[in-house]
This record gives sequence, C-alpha cells and structure tokens, in this order.
Amino acid sequence: MYLFKRSSDLKKHLDLVRKSNKSIGFVPTMGALHNGHLSLIQAAKKENDVVVCSIFVNPTQFNDPKDFEKYPITIEEDIKKLNDASTDILFLPSVEEMYPEGLTIGKNYDFGNLETILEGKFRQGHFQGVGRIVHKLLDIVQPHKLFMGQKDLQQCLIIRKLLIIINSTVKLVICPTERESSGLAMSSRNERLSPIARKKAVAIYQALEKLKHDFGKGLYFLEGAHEAFENLKKQGFEPEYVDILTLEGDNLHHIDQPPGNHTVVAAIAAWLDGVRLIDNMVLQGSL
Ligand code: PAF
Repeated sequence: MYLFKRSSDLKKHLDLVRKSNKSIGFVPTMGALHNGHLSLIQAAKKENDVVVCSIFVNPTQFNDPKDFEKYPITIEEDIKKLNDASTDILFLPSVEEMYPEGLTIGKNYDFGNLETILEGKFRQGHFQGVGRIVHKLLDIVQPHKLFMGQKDLQQCLIIRKLLIIINSTVKLVICPTERESSGLAMSSRNERLSPIARKKAVAIYQALEKLKHDFGKGLYFLEGAHEAFENLKKQGFEPEYVDILTLEGDNLHHIDQPPGNHTVVAAIAAWLDGVRLIDNMVLQGSL
C-alpha cells in the first residue's frame, strides 16, 4: 500500500493512474477503522481498479470540541487493517495540509432543509464542515466513485447534494450499514461504550426494527416514533430524536401524511454512557 501525506504527491500518482485508464474508488474516513469501513473498501475494490482510502479527523465538522478531543485515533491498527484489505493507497494528511487557509474561512453550501433537520438540528455547522472536507478530498483524489455507509444516511444525502452543487460527475455509492451480531450498527464511537452499555445499545436497532415492523402493518408512524423515544428514555438513553421521514428528491421531510410511493426512513440519535449513537433504517423503498 502506498502512503501519501501530501496532496501534491498523491495527485501526481493518481494522474498516472488515470492516464493508464484505471478507475479510482475512494473511501473517505476519520480512522478508528472497523468492519463497516472495511466493507466500503471491499465494495470499492469490486467496482474499481485502484482504491484510495483517506484518514483525516476533520476539525471543522465537530461542533463540540470535547468530541473532537475524544475522537479515537488508532493509526497503527488502521494501517494494518487497510494493508490486510489490500487497499492500494492511504492518504493521511495533516490539518495544515488540508486547511492551509485556516479553519475559519470557508465556503457556505446551500444544502437546504437537509442541513437543519435530524443531525443538523443538534450539530450546528457539522454538515458545512463535512461538505468542506469532502469537497477538498474530491478535488485531490478525483475518483470515479465515492463509497459511503448508510449508517450516516444524512451525510450521504448531503454529499449527494454536494456533488450536484459542485457539478461533479463522481458517482456516490451508498453501502449498507454493517452491524455487530447483536444488530448494533458498527461505529468508531462504540469503542467508547462500556461492555454493559454496548449490550444495552442494541435497543436502538431494536427500536428501528419495531418501527419497520409496525410500518409494515400500516400503523401510524408518529405515535410509533414517540413511543420509541419514551422507551429509550426508560432504558437509560437520552434520545435526541426518533424521526420518521420521507425522502423526496434530495430532501428529507417529517412524515405528516401517508407517504405514497416515497422512500420512508426512520432515524434515531441517542446518548448512552456519554456516547452519542446514531442509526437509521429504510422502512419503504430505497435510497
Ligand atoms: O463519515 C466520516 O468519517 C466523515 O464524516 C467523513 C465523510 C470522512 C468526512 O470527514
């Protein structure tokens, strides 16, 4: 595996790759890699000749400085996992490399209501930070395809919108959420849960399964979401939202009438043991 720390070196290398007519798949990450990330690498390998993975803990997407400080960094293990997964290239830039202009000056993308609901409501500025770094990474890597996980569904939709905003031809591939055998969605943040909390955290997945089951029976969604919120509270979680939404074009809308043929998703964010967990499930249709 090649390791590049400087974007100019990576660009030069990838120019040669493109000249030899090879396709490039890109998996951006913040490290602390788990099987969810590795499944993205596998998907990218299946569909491309060369796979680039980036590891960069992006400061501009953290609205809470404590969360940034606590973000797990496991670079040695990550390199080993990427090597074992036969990743072709790792891009490991510094903050100065990615933000020579400084952290505060930046573009403002118009993501519409996608930026203000769900995660956007609780993590102000988060998606501008994600948009800013993914835009920069795409400019450097210029991949044919970009691979992201459905676990961060709203992020996937934001990036789909970003690609339109910046007139990009990159194809976004949204890969299914990888889950532990209990059903808990794989996440770098799971590492911060105590063994007891990790067992308990499966309740988020179970709540989504119940919403899906009830939705299948035609039960009314808002009551179901409210009940799931209260149940999580009773079990010791501090839920931020349990929402059921329709995906209409590139926008998510809270459901307030029967959804017809629109794609319907349920999404949950809840704190447990000082760790913020998110998960989602498609109840109807596809992404
Ligand atoms: O999902 C992540 O790990 C990050 O938000 C991303 C897409 C790598 C941007 O920093």
